Amino acid sequence: MIKLITNSHIINQTILLRLDLNVPTYENKILSDFRIVKSIPTIRYLLNNNNKIIILSHFGRPKEGLKDPSLSLENISNYLAKKLNKKIIFYDDWIDGVDFLDADIVMCENVRFQNGEKANSPALSEKMSRLADIYVFDAFGVSHRKESSTYGISDYLDSYAGLLLEEEVKNAQSLLADSKPPLTTIISGAKISTKLSLIKKLINKSENIIIGGGILNTFLLAMGFNVGNSLIEKKFIPEAKEIIDSEYFSKIVMPIDVVTSDNIDFLNPNTKEISMVQSKDKILDIGAHTINRYIEVINKSKSIFWNGPLGYVEKKPYDNGTIKLSQAIADSDTFSIVGGGDTIPIIESLRIQNNFTCLSTGGGSLLKFIEGKDLPILSKLGVYNK
Ligand code: 3PG
Repeated sequence: MIKLITNSHIINQTILLRLDLNVPTYENKILSDFRIVKSIPTIRYLLNNNNKIIILSHFGRPKEGLKDPSLSLENISNYLAKKLNKKIIFYDDWIDGVDFLDADIVMCENVRFQNGEKANSPALSEKMSRLADIYVFDAFGVSHRKESSTYGISDYLDSYAGLLLEEEVKNAQSLLADSKPPLTTIISGAKISTKLSLIKKLINKSENIIIGGGILNTFLLAMGFNVGNSLIEKKFIPEAKEIIDSEYFSKIVMPIDVVTSDNIDFLNPNTKEISMVQSKDKILDIGAHTINRYIEVINKSKSIFWNGPLGYVEKKPYDNGTIKLSQAIADSDTFSIVGGGDTIPIIESLRIQNNFTCLSTGGGSLLKFIEGKDLPILSKLGVYNK
């Protein structure tokens, strides 16, 4: 049984609350506040029970122990304070103790600025634990990392799962246990290396597999197509070939056309059949015929699991495939789970986020959970106990 804050009587305590506030930003502007908003119910729940909260989060990947001002959490702390309509005291140096003054919430500077955080140093974990009475973990997005603030502290403090963690685990478990066939899995994104084991795991369970992005390029190359200058991972061609030669290959919905550019600045987009890609071309999105084929599959599905954008969504018009598929899933009444930091901002910008069964704050963590890997802090919190 998962150890939940709602099943315990946590009242009048000081809580060390680990959140994942690692949100996409550009020049200090928050591009998607999804993870921030999803963290609010646990904060409110703890405050309503008269607790004081010390928030810990990472932001980006600073060099170990280095205070990189561009990776400060101060801006996110201010944003959260506005959303909550509560005072938050932000601490730059917090490891030796914090004072709440007249506030109920303290936010600590990027936890990855601390030496030993990434390595899950017991000395650092113990020091952090001295700040509070209880540890609450609500950072599903980083639950696959065994770091001091995501795991180590639980060796020293009584530990509980927050409301977001509970929701994420329930949704991922229901994808694994209750999703009705036909299940269509859409696996996309830049790198096949991070997703190959997921493809192997879900290929059995799914009726259809749609692949896109750099992953698709590697598959096309393994099938003997010219992919020109496109993003690929050579090392994974043998494993892609294994899938191509297996009985499962028929589950992969093949693309018909792709959008390419032969320009260094990605100008002059061109739609081509997959057999017409030239050596100087870069594949940057799926083409209109492919989109239609994929939408037909989506419309016949009862469940959909989607991770990763289908094209180079940072630059228009190569976000077209991702936009069209988002809309098609939103318009269908399938059970749908979407994860990954690059797809959700697009769904939010289309204002269709309420038309999905679940948008997950997890990227890598959701994939690992679905692959069936035990995530360290989740084991500790009893997620896998019957
Ligand atoms: C994410 O954005 O996937 C999580 O916040 C984890 O971040 P990390 O990959 O830097 O550990």
